[in-house]
Amino acid sequence: MARINPHYKELQGSYLFSEIARRRTAFLKEHPDADIISLGIGDVTRPLPEAAASAMRAAVDDMTKAETFRGYGPEQGYDFLREAIARHDYQDRGIDIRADEVFVSDGSKCDVSNIQEIFSQDAVVAVQDPVYPVYVDTNVMAGRAGAYDKETNRYQGIVYLVCGRENGFKPALPERKVDLIYLCYPNNPTGMTLTRDELKRWVDYAKKNGSVILYDSAYEAYIREEGVPHSIYEIEGAREVAIEFRSFSKTAGFTGVRCAYTVVPRDLKAKDNDGNDVAIADLWNRRHTTKFNGVSYVTQRGAAALYTPEGKAQIAALVDYYMANAKLILDGLKSVGIEAYGGVNAPYIWLKTPEGIDSWAFFDKLLREAHIVGTPGVGFGQAGQGYFRLTAFGSRENTERAVERITKLGW
Ligand code: MLT
Repeated sequence: MARINPHYKELQGSYLFSEIARRRTAFLKEHPDADIISLGIGDVTRPLPEAAASAMRAAVDDMTKAETFRGYGPEQGYDFLREAIARHDYQDRGIDIRADEVFVSDGSKCDVSNIQEIFSQDAVVAVQDPVYPVYVDTNVMAGRAGAYDKETNRYQGIVYLVCGRENGFKPALPERKVDLIYLCYPNNPTGMTLTRDELKRWVDYAKKNGSVILYDSAYEAYIREEGVPHSIYEIEGAREVAIEFRSFSKTAGFTGVRCAYTVVPRDLKAKDNDGNDVAIADLWNRRHTTKFNGVSYVTQRGAAALYTPEGKAQIAALVDYYMANAKLILDGLKSVGIEAYGGVNAPYIWLKTPEGIDSWAFFDKLLREAHIVGTPGVGFGQAGQGYFRLTAFGSRENTERAVERITKLGW
């Protein structure tokens, strides 16, 4: 009889957003007429920017003619897209990243999941707490997390970097030496950002300790304030220690289209068992070519069109739209005395549950009494207990209605 990967049994419960969907469905079964507003999973609601849509229509036409038909594309992405990314997202901003360091994929969730497999089994992993659960779960599946401690609700083999009110939701450097550090900025779920100096401390730590920073920058387009770093490569030395993940999902309405990219600079090296330096980009390329057959031509044409002047303007309008929602939520919560964070450089609002209600109890209260679905903070880790996340990705109308319902609840 075949045996399973035993580490799958170490996973706790179901995946956060599946559990939320399950509870929502159960509630709807009992209350079929409930007009539920979902501000839970960070899924976008605005349609595709027209620049991307028309480029995709034209690409479909290409696929219908023998002369322009495409089969498998390069696994790493077409040059036209890799070059557009390198130029517009990096070189034009004074950052040294080349097109051949950009790997196009079908989503950052897959990339941040898959990246760990090119590192050693005994690599010590550090995550922020609260954290996007995928970083933890994929390391559990890989057998890197150790036993789960039910007292602390944490894996013994993972180093948790607590981000709470007491440290402004900004983690301290690890007290022990770690090999892989997942950082996400603008942060999901807290919506916080780091200053250049704060990010530099991480780069310096990684250089000193031979660590690799896995920098999830999926929400970069939402940065509004001057001086907040958009890319870790703005920090000197980051090319030697960091991998950066970016996505078109939240920026350009691509959650259903699927396109993202990962930057692996040629200067980033790690050791093999004999102590030799190995370029991480070569390993990532090897993994990509073995396990992935590339993003569709049509999708990549759509993504490339986002870098045209029209595409850029349409993205800016999308981001403005969602950030106006964020402000509505933030102002609404504050108007009834609820402590809330984020929502300024990120599409997420992180609120402290009133009267110390625990996160799932708050979820149930909001669902039952206001028919609103959000995300319990504890679902992102133990340090998220007593917090709750709302997303700004709803429609304006639903956001306004949700804010009205929340503020009327009486706190
Ligand atoms: C979230 O709600 O945290 C995100 O939508 C999850 C994701 O991007 O996979």
